[in-house]
Amino acid sequence: MAHPLASEPHRTAVAPGGVFDWLDEAALLRADAGLTRTLRSREAEDPVLDLAGNDYLGLTRHPVVTRAAADAALRWGGGSTGSRLVTGTTALHTELEEELAEFCGAEAALVFSSGYTANLAALTALTDPDTLIVSDAYNHASLIDGCRLARADVHRSPHSDPEAVREILGGRTQRRALVVSDSVFSVDGDAAPLAALSDAARAHGAALLVDDAHGLGVLGPGGTGALAAAGLAGQPDTVATVTLSKSLGSQGGAVLGPRRVIRHLTETARTFIFDTGLAPAAAGAALAALRLLRAEPHRADRAREVARSLAARLTAAGLQACEPDAAVVSVRAPGPEAAVAWAADCRRAGLAVGCFRPPSVPDGVSRLRLTARGDLTDDQITDAVRIIAELAPAGARSR
Ligand SMILES: Cc1ncc(COP(=O)(O)O)c(C=O)c1O
Repeated sequence: MAHPLASEPHRTAVAPGGVFDWLDEAALLRADAGLTRTLRSREAEDPVLDLAGNDYLGLTRHPVVTRAAADAALRWGGGSTGSRLVTGTTALHTELEEELAEFCGAEAALVFSSGYTANLAALTALTDPDTLIVSDAYNHASLIDGCRLARADVHRSPHSDPEAVREILGGRTQRRALVVSDSVFSVDGDAAPLAALSDAARAHGAALLVDDAHGLGVLGPGGTGALAAAGLAGQPDTVATVTLSKSLGSQGGAVLGPRRVIRHLTETARTFIFDTGLAPAAAGAALAALRLLRAEPHRADRAREVARSLAARLTAAGLQACEPDAAVVSVRAPGPEAAVAWAADCRRAGLAVGCFRPPSVPDGVSRLRLTARGDLTDDQITDAVRIIAELAPAGARSR
């Protein structure tokens, strides 16, 4: 969006009360475009059925997970007290890194305060000015921001197109290259062709970085992730990032990969070195959730089953639901205002759904986004489909 004052002459003096006037004008422009966003604080005992969060396995309020968070805070304190290299690494962080790496089949892991900082770390530390980054057009904002921060050349490749990636890599002049993709794209829930991307990267001596935020806990045997599903876990040229905030019901992120990659990140990644370590409660909760998933691997299958069931029933009701590859189901809306109104109507009817609209959607198509939580009952799935279908706006149904 153009700066509202961009065309005005340079001003040497503005009254102190006026320096942020342009923000109000920008807010009006967003409102005109139907892009106003507001915060809503939820109650602890919200009666609304939640298909809007990312709690894919329904573990965030599992008593084992919440008890582990409380125990960790009681034992280690409310915060980690410092950056990971100074005082912010507890025994919990180390255990979490070891168990996460083992679970996903990676040599080593490094835990960050969020998935966002993990992505910034991987993209900045694994590239230099003589690197070409080939980044999928639909990648998550944190990968895009990582590309912006990296002092590398960035080429945006067409969505899920390994042939295009091959071609771009084939014409490169830079010494190194890194292919970057989400494993499951957060808007439509479609999975990336990871095996073909890996082949393309290998054919041209490039490394592969996969953001498995929506694959961990859902894809692969027992939820071990998209790299395991594609037979790429533990490969020497492949790195994954994950968040602990979705299937693992906590907060935080991690980079997983070859030991020398993890060592390099530990010693050079700015979002690791200059950031306070993950809070012990979050590390404890994620570790407990990971152990639950190991003990109960069917949780991953159930999340995928719920996704397929939701999508099939919404399609049968005439709506345009995407075929889900993981636990995200997206339903097309006729436009941004209709999508916002549809989501608000669902909430009033007792169902929380996500609403994606420009600029969060790379193709400009507004959608409802449903999280197929593995702990949903069949009755809850039926209710959710009924509410969404009954409240569908004109134009939402396929012709
Ligand atoms: C694909 C993807 N990558 C990274 C992130 C960022 O993770 P975090 O919320 O832990 O910062 C998210 C969303 O939250 C995401 O959907």
